[in-house]
Amino acid sequence: MQVNLSEMYVDDDIKKAVNDVLDSGQYVKGKNLAAFETEFAAYCNAKYAVGVSSGTSAMLLAMMALGIGRGDEVIVPSHTFIATASPAKFLGATPIYVDIDPVNYNLDPSKLEKAITPNTKAIIPVHLYGHPADMDPIMHIAKEHGITVVEDACQAHGAEYRGKRTGSIGDLAVFSFFPSKNMTVAGDGGMVLTDNKELAHKMSMLRDHGRTDKYLHELLGLNLRMSEIPAAIGRQQLKHLPEWIKRRREIASMYNDLLEDTVTVPKEADWAKHAYYVYTLQTSNRDSLREYLHSKGISTGIYYPVPVHRQPCMEARNVDLPLTDECVKRIISIPMHPKLTDEQIHYIVDNIKRGI
Ligand SMILES: Cc1ncc(COP(=O)(O)O)c(C=O)c1O
Repeated sequence: MQVNLSEMYVDDDIKKAVNDVLDSGQYVKGKNLAAFETEFAAYCNAKYAVGVSSGTSAMLLAMMALGIGRGDEVIVPSHTFIATASPAKFLGATPIYVDIDPVNYNLDPSKLEKAITPNTKAIIPVHLYGHPADMDPIMHIAKEHGITVVEDACQAHGAEYRGKRTGSIGDLAVFSFFPSKNMTVAGDGGMVLTDNKELAHKMSMLRDHGRTDKYLHELLGLNLRMSEIPAAIGRQQLKHLPEWIKRRREIASMYNDLLEDTVTVPKEADWAKHAYYVYTLQTSNRDSLREYLHSKGISTGIYYPVPVHRQPCMEARNVDLPLTDECVKRIISIPMHPKLTDEQIHYIVDNIKRGI
């Protein structure tokens, strides 16, 4: 049996949506992007959405709109994908790393205050694996210090924090629609959400060469736009997201019940609704387990083996993150997607028990 880590859903509606765009002759800045922005913002309970070419573009656009640059600091976890922090660094700012809560893997709010300086411009909590970060204390501390919060919700479509959708809590939120995500555009795509009208307007200009007219460029922007084909696919995928989250949660609950005596299973906080983008467990013999599972046709992933502060290009010095450094040696993610069958789940569980 071969079991993939993630799988994209394709149906006739998606194929028709692509064909309709091909037939329309309108490939950028058309009705699909406008509609996808409205529909995704409504789903997440945010007022405005700006569709872009990837989650990385979304983070870059958010940082550009906030005017982040040389001399500024942004606070981030290090246990995340590099694109949480690299756009700020790319603009000349310095990422300041905060260690994680070892249970939910997200930025630990109790360590936040110590990282704040007069140069701090933004705090970027990540809802890693689809489990929300503990946002209330983060928002409270940010407000006290007048700092903007940008949620990195690239892994958390459909997750909830105390009944609120991720993406509706911070001042801004960024999403990715990469193919493995809870919903995708069948390629690269991203979105920034905000309730702030001026920021939304600025971002819609910045992603489109800072235009006020076709060849009049008021702001120094880039081309970060999302095209019509991905937007049309995203609209179709969004329709299925609630049922997919439900199935992901059922699968996680089966894994939890069957594996809790064997390995450290993920724990959902009582204030959280986990969207289970990935299902990550911990064990001391992660590497040999991984090899064993691969020999049985079961794909696994490690999100992420090298923390951001240890990436050569990030040039971070004297950073002490013991909990981040410890967890990356033990984590392993096993297949998680709505198409997994109960038979596959039992096959995976049986092999984990054998391979441990
Ligand atoms: C936490 C996080 N931030 C940012 C990104 C960047 O998104 P993209 O790959 O769409 O550029 C990702 C995507 O994998 C992510 O997981």
